[in-house]
Amino acid sequence: MRKLTYFIACSIDGFIGGPDGDATAMVSFVDEEFMEFLKTEYPETMPTHGRRALGFDDLANRRFDTIIQGRASYDLALKEGVTSPYAHMRQYVASRSLTESPDPQVEIVAGDLVAKVRELKAEEGEFGIYLCGGAQVAGELLDEVDELVIKTYPIVYGTGMPMFGSGFDVTEFTLGEVRTFGNGAVVRTYSRKR
Ligand SMILES: NC(=O)c1ccc[n+]([C@@H]2O[C@H](COP(=O)([O-])OP(=O)(O)OC[C@H]3O[C@@H](n4cnc5c(N)ncnc54)[C@H](OP(=O)(O)O)[C@@H]3O)[C@@H](O)[C@H]2O)c1
Repeated sequence: MRKLTYFIACSIDGFIGGPDGDATAMVSFVDEEFMEFLKTEYPETMPTHGRRALGFDDLANRRFDTIIQGRASYDLALKEGVTSPYAHMRQYVASRSLTESPDPQVEIVAGDLVAKVRELKAEEGEFGIYLCGGAQVAGELLDEVDELVIKTYPIVYGTGMPMFGSGFDVTEFTLGEVRTFGNGAVVRTYSRKR
C-alpha cells in the first residue's frame, strides 16, 4: 500500500495562499538552508523547470514517484508555458474542463478522483504519492491522506485559501518529525491516526 502525502506550504494561521491562492509571499523563505533541505529530503517536490534552472534536475526522487494536483494548481505552470511541470514523476491532474491533456506526460482525471487515488495507493512500490494541492482537491481527498508534511513559514495572512477546502470534520493525526530553520520556518510531519 502506497501512502498519499499532502506536502504543503502554509502560513502560521494555516492558509496555503491568499484568498485567490496566491502563495508568492512564501517564496522568500526558501533560502539557502531551506533549499538544501528540499534538495536533500524532497527534491522531487520542486518543479522540473525550477530544478533545471538551479542545476539539480538530475537528483533522484527520494519519496514520491507520482503527483496529483488540481487543475487550478496545474494552471500556474501552464501560464508559464510549462505543460509537464513534474516530468520526473507520473503526473495526474484532476479536471473536468480539460478535455484533452496539454502534455502526453500528464494524465487528466475527470472521473472518480477518490477511486483513482485508491487505485494508485493499492499499487506495489517503495515510493509514495505526492498530493500537491490545492485546497479543493485536498479537501476532496482528505479521507485518503495518510501523511501531512506541512512547511509553515513565519507569516500570518489573516485570511486566505485553507489547507483543505472541505466541510467541518475532526480528523486526528500523530506528530512525527519536526524540523526548524534559521529563518523561522518549521516543517512538521504527521501521520493519520487509523
Ligand atoms: N501553498 C502551497 O504549497 C500550494 C500548493 C499547491 C497549490 N497552492 C495554491 O492553490 C491554488 C489552487 O487551489 P484551488 O483549491 O483553487 O484549486 P485546485 O484544487 O488546484 O484545482 C481545482 C480544480 O480541480 C478540478 N477538480 C477538483 N475536484 C475534481 C474532481 N473530483 N474530479 C475532477 N476534477 C476535479 C477542477 O478543475 P476543472 O475546473 O478543470 O474541472 C477544479 O476547478 C493555487 O492558487 C496555488 O497557488 C498552494
